Amino acid sequence: MQKRLDALAAEGLLREPVELESAVGRMVRVGGAELVCMCSNDYLALANDPEVRAAAVEGITRWGVGAGASRLVSGTMSPHVELEQQLAAFKGTEAAVVAATGWMANNVAITALAGAGDLILCDKLNHASILDAAGACGAQLRTYHHCDVGRLRVQLEKYRGKYKRTLIVTDSLFSMDGDFAPLREIVELKQQYDAQLLIDEAHATGVFGAGGHGVAEALGVEQHIDATVGTLSKALGTLGGFVAGPKVLIDLIRNTGRAYIYTTAPPPGICCAAIKSLEIIRTQPQRREKLLQMAADLRDKLSAAGFDICGSQSQIVPVVVGEAAAAVEMSKRLLAEGFLIPAIRPPTVPRGKARLRISVTAAHTPADISRICELLRTFS
Ligand SMILES: Cc1ncc(COP(=O)(O)O)c(C=O)c1O
Repeated sequence: MQKRLDALAAEGLLREPVELESAVGRMVRVGGAELVCMCSNDYLALANDPEVRAAAVEGITRWGVGAGASRLVSGTMSPHVELEQQLAAFKGTEAAVVAATGWMANNVAITALAGAGDLILCDKLNHASILDAAGACGAQLRTYHHCDVGRLRVQLEKYRGKYKRTLIVTDSLFSMDGDFAPLREIVELKQQYDAQLLIDEAHATGVFGAGGHGVAEALGVEQHIDATVGTLSKALGTLGGFVAGPKVLIDLIRNTGRAYIYTTAPPPGICCAAIKSLEIIRTQPQRREKLLQMAADLRDKLSAAGFDICGSQSQIVPVVVGEAAAAVEMSKRLLAEGFLIPAIRPPTVPRGKARLRISVTAAHTPADISRICELLRTFS
């Protein structure tokens, strides 16, 4: 074990969590210093929002801290049921199921939609939870180059006939590059080749689309998606994941999804908080509008300064540095100037593509955006 750790250290890949001495927000305290936090996924600043907090406190007061059992034993309480109904209504699907994490939501969705004798086609940059579930569910997994619909077409042409069912899975908004999957083209292909399409809107839920449903809504293809995974842990500011889709899929997950059945139900107070976050997403579009305005400004400024931002189209704005050690060094310099943006290194991103993954939230200010650009220009 120590040898493995030493090997990671020698490559500049050893990781250690940063300890926050405050709640997450625009400013956080680390080692006694107040820092601008530009790395969280709390995109709508709901994790410490007074209304969401109050809903969680009320939920705990009424329902207790823990659910006490798994969902199919006695862990399903009214907040779980209400949240699932609201998520289905929000996504415009027949049903939805909540899982303890987004990771588990991908696991149960994929294992319900594909198995032995089936083919799964994945974008190479899909989240680890997708690639792991696809690799373990018994289906044949093939990956295609990032957003390369030409390669996807070739794979469908070559392999579709050899398998019972084919499932295409893609992040809608890629978590490390901040770009969108070409969902319109993928929908055309899945229709042409009689495949199913599962999308992961983890980073897009609450942020994109007129109603905040995600990238599929923004690109006008929502009604063509067979199933969607989302998280409650990013823009909704709480914890958990969900699958939204036809009732038959959700019923199958409730009956066979091991990561749904064999784990304790999410805390009911968290469901109460997520219900409040959904209400805020529905009624306060100005939060996402402000966020996307600042994110566009950041992308424009960094592109104009010549940084490689991986074609980002969103609030996730990577600044590719290259080698891991250089990214760590850049992160340290930003820390000294009051910005918390840890380096993202392999294996999370490919070798030679270590980066600073800047994430903008609705709590940031235009002055934060200008300052980070200024610092990056100075340090590069
Ligand atoms: C695209 C994507 N899907 C799923 C997950 C897992 O979600 P969670 O953190 O809720 O487990 C993440 C991130 O953590 C993600 O980036």
